[in-house]
Amino acid sequence: MENKITSIAATVTPPGTNVHLPRLGFGVYQIFGESCISSCKTALDAGYRLIDSAQLYRNEDQVGAVVRDSELDRAEIFVTTKQGIRGATPQETYNLAAESVKRIAGSGPGAYVDLFLIHIPYVKGEAEGRKEVWQALERLYDEGKTRLIGVSNYDIEHIEEMKAYAKVWPPHVNQIELHPWRQQSGLVAYCENNGIVVQAYSPLAEGTKMDDPVVQRVAAKHDKSSAQVLIRYGLQKGWVVLPKSATPKRIKANANVFDFELDEEDMVALGGLSEEVPPS
Ligand SMILES: NC(=O)c1ccc[n+]([C@@H]2O[C@H](COP(=O)([O-])OP(=O)(O)OC[C@H]3O[C@@H](n4cnc5c(N)ncnc54)[C@H](OP(=O)(O)O)[C@@H]3O)[C@@H](O)[C@H]2O)c1
Repeated sequence: MENKITSIAATVTPPGTNVHLPRLGFGVYQIFGESCISSCKTALDAGYRLIDSAQLYRNEDQVGAVVRDSELDRAEIFVTTKQGIRGATPQETYNLAAESVKRIAGSGPGAYVDLFLIHIPYVKGEAEGRKEVWQALERLYDEGKTRLIGVSNYDIEHIEEMKAYAKVWPPHVNQIELHPWRQQSGLVAYCENNGIVVQAYSPLAEGTKMDDPVVQRVAAKHDKSSAQVLIRYGLQKGWVVLPKSATPKRIKANANVFDFELDEEDMVALGGLSEEVPPS
């Protein structure tokens, strides 16, 4: 993947597809109601073209309203949602997913989302639940109601398990927690080797590490904020990066990360913040 990115328009195309997935996205976890609507509008105005929602976030309706009311063409906006629960039957599981598409894209012919993920591997019934939700997403994919399908919070073993039943394998995306303190390098390498796009959630470490001295040193060197350094770090690692903010000034500033580049020394210093033991 191209990591010397210089534009918010940069995308990645999952192998075997012709779908262009933006490298920078806007997360809407814990943003509700009017705040979700105004934050998504601010994000689109600032140039973000990917909005990351989920059934469990309870804001698909608001994201959908923004997308449908936007002056941008539907094709210019990339919308992700995630299924976090399993129904009582396979049909009900599918219906739950189809309702999400309706909340976001309406019920007209051709309504679609861009990416539908399984939110967590530990859906009710575990292995059977994972299979049932995946098969519901495959059905949506076949029907053209989602352009890509993927998983989130999946370990290697969960992705390998899918080979026994998946018609679509590999999943197009695995969305996982990634930032300097959480690198998951073995899982990231597995995804890269298998053509699975890696999306980084909580790329700002949920706002808890802005005062870290290493991050602040790198930020001062480039005359950027800590948040901008963390976002740029994720982009240069080759991840799709999904920062969240409900603060208009921060939403805009977090998208202003294409006019500088972290050098090797910065990347090593930031990478050294991880306390995880790398895989042998
Ligand atoms: N798949 C999953 O299981 C999963 C799990 C978690 C998250 N996600 C996705 O990833 C997205 C991002 O993750 P996240 O929401 O957990 O955390 P995050 O993006 O790492 O951090 C968000 C926090 O950082 C603060 N912040 C944002 N910009 C800032 C800035 N420039 N300066 C200082 N503080 C700043 C925000 O505050 P304000 O909002 O007050 O500005 C908020 O408290 C989510 O919204 C969601 O879409 C997915």
